[in-house]
Amino acid sequence: MSELHKKTKEITELVFKSSRKAREETNAEPEPHLTQPITWPVECVVGPGLEGAIACESKIGYVNGLKGWLIYRGYDIFDLCAYSTYEEVSYLLLYGYLPTAVQLKAFKKNLIQCRNVPNTLRLLMSFSIEEMNPMAVLRLGTNLMRQEFTYIDRDGLVPKRGKVIGTDEDSIPMETVPRGEEHAIYEFKDSDPFKSKELSKFDLEPAIGYKSCYRLISGVATIAAAIVRIRQQKFPIDSDPELSHAANLIYMMTGKQPTPEEERIMDIALILHADHGINASTFAAMVVASTLSDMYFSVGSGIAALNGPLHGGANEQVLHMLREIGEVSNVKSWYKKSRKKKQKIMGFGHRVYKAYDPRARILRPLAKHLAKRNKESGRLFQVAKALEKEVISTLGVKKRIFPNVDFYSGIVYDSLGIPPEIFTPIFAVSRVSGWTSRIMEYLEKNRIFRPRAIYIGQFNKKYVSLEERTNKTR
Ligand SMILES: CC(C)(COP(=O)(O)OP(=O)(O)OC[C@H]1O[C@@H](n2cnc3c(N)ncnc32)[C@H](O)[C@@H]1OP(=O)(O)O)[C@@H](O)C(=O)NCCC(=O)NCCS
Repeated sequence: MSELHKKTKEITELVFKSSRKAREETNAEPEPHLTQPITWPVECVVGPGLEGAIACESKIGYVNGLKGWLIYRGYDIFDLCAYSTYEEVSYLLLYGYLPTAVQLKAFKKNLIQCRNVPNTLRLLMSFSIEEMNPMAVLRLGTNLMRQEFTYIDRDGLVPKRGKVIGTDEDSIPMETVPRGEEHAIYEFKDSDPFKSKELSKFDLEPAIGYKSCYRLISGVATIAAAIVRIRQQKFPIDSDPELSHAANLIYMMTGKQPTPEEERIMDIALILHADHGINASTFAAMVVASTLSDMYFSVGSGIAALNGPLHGGANEQVLHMLREIGEVSNVKSWYKKSRKKKQKIMGFGHRVYKAYDPRARILRPLAKHLAKRNKESGRLFQVAKALEKEVISTLGVKKRIFPNVDFYSGIVYDSLGIPPEIFTPIFAVSRVSGWTSRIMEYLEKNRIFRPRAIYIGQFNKKYVSLEERTNKTR
């Protein structure tokens, strides 16, 4: 047990309690059709938004939506939150197994070194960051990191890609049955297309590969913290190499070292958000990577997708919603009005979970625990609890809609002193390890993503010249 875990036994107990409740309520069994190797092409029922579509096999993580079960590389999320750390979980996601003490030490050292992104911050500060959406800054930051660390855009150092790209996207015969992983077009497991002899001379790196994952896992945290500082008219501060990823993140945002309890809760929040199947942002990142673009652009796309209020942006909306409701006594009338207007209640519902989201199960008692520290958080927690009761007794019963990860994370971050506009960037800070792990795995048997749309437009329309065109000739 680490020193931090020894000092925060009360938090571990809260995780165990949630875990016991989850096991009582859900009898988790893997779904055979989603947990066994497949032979391509595979038949599945697909709904709009690719619901139900199978895109690839993966050993990284599994979400059982009916039971409310989340697994990373074989380990239950409750166990990882109780025993592990974000660094260890990132290693697990990337490499597939828990590190030995020696491996973890080396991994942490790498991450600590990668926290420094001096040129990225220097360039970033030439923009008016206070006026920009923090997620836009984060995305820009990943682009600037690409410029700082990789040779991909340097004249004379651009790698020769001809060898790996056999054809372009439009020439893939998509009208044929997908040929599947065994015949993947762009396999490059044993060859590194980005290798360059001149690399050491310039001290620049490839834009894909494990080093780029380390850079992004650490660098995105540094950029997120810098955004907080700059928005408060303060300078970014250097990271503290003695601190863990979670503690350093809080330190770089606030300038103060967190208490063991704050560090542990942030660490758990980071673990919980690290991976979640092929959700919208992970898919966006994987689609970009599948074109043999690079890790920085792919992570930038993940950040862009995460920004939407239906995905990562929901946690910020939850806090605004709870503040708007204001008091427990307003919950019933507010909820009635929202339902009348057919508004979606932020922090509820999920494409995959049709049971209580296990991440919300863990965050709920942590939010309650932190809320005891100040009156405002306490009030928000009470409002959240009352709203949850309303939603579960109506939408929960009728449509299997329960709180998702975003419902209580906002209260947790707010209690830790993190401004609401930084909640989604914090989600990204954590999810980078999931995005990069999924990309590394997918690239081993890469096949460019290319779904199709059903054409329901017209045929045989007569072209009308600009001179003769009117609204009627449309
Ligand atoms: C997450 C989310 C996008 C999933 O979307 P989805 O799988 O496409 O589900 P749908 O939007 O098709 O919803 C199915 C039904 O449940 C309802 N529903 C889903 N989430 C709801 C919510 N939060 N509040 C009220 N009703 C909701 C829909 O209105 C729809 O009802 P209908 O069948 O009468 O049309 C959706 O639940 C949502 O918008 N939630 C709020 C935003 C949020 O918290 N996002 C974070 C996700 S981690």
